Amino acid sequence: MYKIAVVPGDGIGKEVMEATLHVLDALDIEFDYTFADAGDECKAASGVALPQETIDIVKESQACLFGAAGESAADVIVRLRQELELYVNLRPVKSYPGTKALFDNLDFVIVRENTEDLYIGLEEETEEGATALRVTTRNAVERICKFAFEYAEESGRDKVTAVHKANVLKKTDGLFKDIFYKVAEDYKNIETDDRYVDATAMFFITNPQMFNVIVTTNLFGDILSDEGAGLVGGLGLIPSANIGENSGLFEPVHGSAPDIAGKNIANPSAMILSAVMMLDYLKEHDAACTVENALIEVLSEGKVITGDIGGNASTMEMASEIRRKIEEK
Ligand code: NAI
Ligand code: MG
Repeated sequence: MYKIAVVPGDGIGKEVMEATLHVLDALDIEFDYTFADAGDECKAASGVALPQETIDIVKESQACLFGAAGESAADVIVRLRQELELYVNLRPVKSYPGTKALFDNLDFVIVRENTEDLYIGLEEETEEGATALRVTTRNAVERICKFAFEYAEESGRDKVTAVHKANVLKKTDGLFKDIFYKVAEDYKNIETDDRYVDATAMFFITNPQMFNVIVTTNLFGDILSDEGAGLVGGLGLIPSANIGENSGLFEPVHGSAPDIAGKNIANPSAMILSAVMMLDYLKEHDAACTVENALIEVLSEGKVITGDIGGNASTMEMASEIRRKIEEK
């Protein structure tokens, strides 16, 4: 029995969450769900976008499924990442059949450091203009590199690439690169290399198959993971995981999509694949495979899929079809 916090949030967050729980229900695993509020509607009703009660519920759970927040997203999701010390942002770049992926054989993962670097916005105005402080600590680099290698080992991947700009940022990224290779010494069976971020951005377009696991700093990871999402097409498909020492929060990359909210037409795949990442995190690898394969089957058949990927099924119809595939097995 797993204790799971469920935060549907706003707009299509609620719809894709309902669809995902419907799919998970077909598994032979017991989940003890605690529902919690957050987002714009919560703020309108209670005055706060992220109530302390929600933070507590998420902290007391083994994992959290998060739908999407609306305008209050920064106050909700960014704050949850900080409160729970979710230092890893994991984003798979994987192409699925029957989608608009630019390449049909991609399967790599970006492990992005989630707590420091320019992305935390330590800026100040100066007489001449403004400066931003780039903080790199040994602890943070070591733990993200360790995570990348452990993740590679556990998921049967055989190569980890560090992405940086150590030729220019000699101290901060120099440290990142040095620690990466030190950590690598404990993982002799995994191939390692490192690349500059600018060249990496090009190789994403020309030869993305060369990557397997990428570990990188916060801002580079932010940019590269959106570029990666572009390679495998469509916000309706892209999941993510935020992982810390004691908790994991799993969410689609998309937001609350007010333009399609309430119409039952959102693609549930991104949220379902986020739940697949949660199952992997809980070491329920067989169940993760089962759900992912059912989704792949539905995508390949192309009959019961949502409008964003060329079909005309509703959110719940697509979810029910995926559930049916699981129950058939
Ligand atoms: P969005 O991801 O909500 O939507 C962008 C476009 O993609 C829209 O046209 C939408 O219809 C489409 N789309 C997104 N998910 C889809 C799905 N599952 N199926 C089919 N189509 C899908 O991003 P946008 O429009 O920039 O932001 C809308 C709201 O969401 C804003 O209030 C923003 O603050 C919030 N947001 C929240 C996030 C979070 O909770 N983590 C992340 C991104 C945005
Ligand atoms: Mg981003």
